Amino acid sequence: MSKKYKVAILGATGAVGRELMELLENRNFPIASLKLLASPRSAGQMLPFQGEELAIEAVSDRAFDGVDIVLASAGGSTSKAYANQIVEAGAVMIDNSSAFRMIPDIPLVVPEVNPEAAANHKGIIANPNCTTILMAVAVYPLHQVKKIKRIIAATYQSASGAGAKAMAEVQAQASDILAGKPPVTDIFPYPLAFNLFPHNTPLNDAGYCEEEMKMVNETRKIFGSQDIKITATCVRVPVLRAHSEAINLEFDTPFAADEARQILSRAPGVKLVENWQTNYFPMPIDATGCDEVLVGRIRQDISHPCSLELWLCGDQIRKGAALNAVQIAELLVNNNLVTSTSALVSS
Ligand code: A2P
Repeated sequence: MSKKYKVAILGATGAVGRELMELLENRNFPIASLKLLASPRSAGQMLPFQGEELAIEAVSDRAFDGVDIVLASAGGSTSKAYANQIVEAGAVMIDNSSAFRMIPDIPLVVPEVNPEAAANHKGIIANPNCTTILMAVAVYPLHQVKKIKRIIAATYQSASGAGAKAMAEVQAQASDILAGKPPVTDIFPYPLAFNLFPHNTPLNDAGYCEEEMKMVNETRKIFGSQDIKITATCVRVPVLRAHSEAINLEFDTPFAADEARQILSRAPGVKLVENWQTNYFPMPIDATGCDEVLVGRIRQDISHPCSLELWLCGDQIRKGAALNAVQIAELLVNNNLVTSTSALVSS
């Protein structure tokens, strides 16, 4: 009989946590037991899994004893607080937060791009930023054929990136505005319904926000190409759960749009969505619930002979977070890599 694993979800009540449960169930992940962990606020709540009701437990230092794989999506500070306990317990942590992504020894993995990096884990594997994952899946197949020199990205990011409460906030704001009432803001700094604003993560001295710098630094680490030039403008838009991105790619020599289209039509994790007659291209409503990154509007950049333009949409909660994490777990299971070598991290 094939091996089954004891899995824990840290942040099970969140938007990504709920998606992780659905994916583990629907993809028949080899589970011996599933432990659902969240804050003490949620302890005792029940969530359905494989026809049973499982009780949420408040996370504690000993919660990871006997667990093989921890899928963590409860924010960076929670990940940092429990990483050592997880690794000491002998489990592998697949972490959806940004806490460990840029630590050189910790693999940052998109299974369609750099699955080999997972083999070097010492107890923690980082799941990249959602906009970075979606862009990486779409542009890496082209980078393998002709090296990308420079990426210029603009993102249109949904509320889901800020969690379940942020999604509820936008819906409530929309209802309030339609009822003629002033919108209430709590998670976001400004009303997002019927509005948009530059991504509200802290700005650096160069004027780039954290989200933009994640796209720059994480893409370089995942591709193993420190010399790619990347610039991004990240914007939050009033969409519930799928992100969109306009991407300009510059190569050393011209890359025919039709060749790029051919490559992307058979690339893993990509679905080409283009109907030039009807002007039908990827949209967040079509990407919602999809495993693939939807890519379209692939065209020559008329302002540069060696550049291409493309447009993509991807489900932020799914491929941008939970699905990528479950694919990493599958990679570990299929390659017998579910062993932690107890490299503790200082936080
Ligand atoms: P809880 O629901 O008990 O607050 P989202 O990103 O969708 O907002 O979800 C965040 C997830 O992280 C939730 O499951 C939340 O649990 C969990 N979480 C937040 N803070 C903590 C904490 N200090 N300890 C454990 N889980 C936490």
